[in-house]
Amino acid sequence: MALVTTTEMFKKAYDGGYAVGAFNVNNMEMVQGITEACREEHAPVILQVSKGARAYANHTYLVKLVEAAVLECPDIPIALHLDHGPDFETCKSCIDGGFTSVMIDASSLPFEKNIEVTKQVVEYAHAHGVVVEAELGTLAGVEDDVKVDAADSSYTKAEDVQEFVEKTGCDSLAIAIGTSHGAYKFTAEQCTRNEKGILVPPPLRFDILKDVEARLPGFPIVLHGSSSVPQEYVKMVNENGGKMPDAVGIPEEQLREAARMAVCKINIDSDLRLAMTGTIRQFMAEHPDKFDPREYLKPARANIKELVRHKLKDVLGCAGKA
Ligand code: G3H
Ligand code: 13P
Ligand code: ZN
Repeated sequence: MALVTTTEMFKKAYDGGYAVGAFNVNNMEMVQGITEACREEHAPVILQVSKGARAYANHTYLVKLVEAAVLECPDIPIALHLDHGPDFETCKSCIDGGFTSVMIDASSLPFEKNIEVTKQVVEYAHAHGVVVEAELGTLAGVEDDVKVDAADSSYTKAEDVQEFVEKTGCDSLAIAIGTSHGAYKFTAEQCTRNEKGILVPPPLRFDILKDVEARLPGFPIVLHGSSSVPQEYVKMVNENGGKMPDAVGIPEEQLREAARMAVCKINIDSDLRLAMTGTIRQFMAEHPDKFDPREYLKPARANIKELVRHKLKDVLGCAGKA
């Protein structure tokens, strides 16, 4: 199977009450860990590349790594998506350069300007057979060089979504219902603590999601900032020389609930970064004499694979849906 757009994936996900995982990739081990899990679990997958990933690894290397995964996994649909496209030029470069889906993130602009920029990308993308994700509302957290403080983040206004989708012609919409980018999604003050002393974040705003779903029946909704920040990996980092106090993510059962609703794409990046970093830190601490990168990248890739397998089966519900 060649690279696909997300159109068919989202239709099936919407009707089937599950979400497709969108995992960020920056290097070969991430592409391999993610796609091997998806191949074995027969799951569709979206591999996504940010502006920062393109700057780090180079557009061509990333496209070729994803094309290699397509050859290695002929039985599952794979989409190649630009994550948080900051402007028309970046989206155009990805559309011209082999991506099947792009996100234009003009969510920090005023409503009318967001519509204008998104519409421009949609027109170019659709003329080239590529689909477009847009965003309304602002998530807290860090992505590339943009840092949004919790105070400046804002939930999506459900009353805006219909007009936005009609005027822009976008194919899917990322909304802000309380998720956040990175490994520190909430401050300690925003959370309560459970009996083990672990921070428990405020629940997602399912009321907004329900309202959006009612206004846009059948339309695919996207959740960014949906890492759960597994405490086992936070512990692994902290026990092996790292320092990540009070890292906290979105509870997985809430993501499963969102996937049963209109949410068709769930973005997960920080969890994979944590798995990779925790594993490498532990390996380094246990084997101070080793210096062959293959020896520490191998277990890191294996743990990414097992984490993705868990997400597909237990969180997204897309295992067996390829
Ligand atoms: O939301 C952003 C993704 O986690 C990608 O992160 O911009 O550091 O590549 P990045
Ligand atoms: P996390 O930082 O929660 O993994 O979010 C990733 C994301 O939204 C990428 O666009
Ligand atoms: Zn994001």
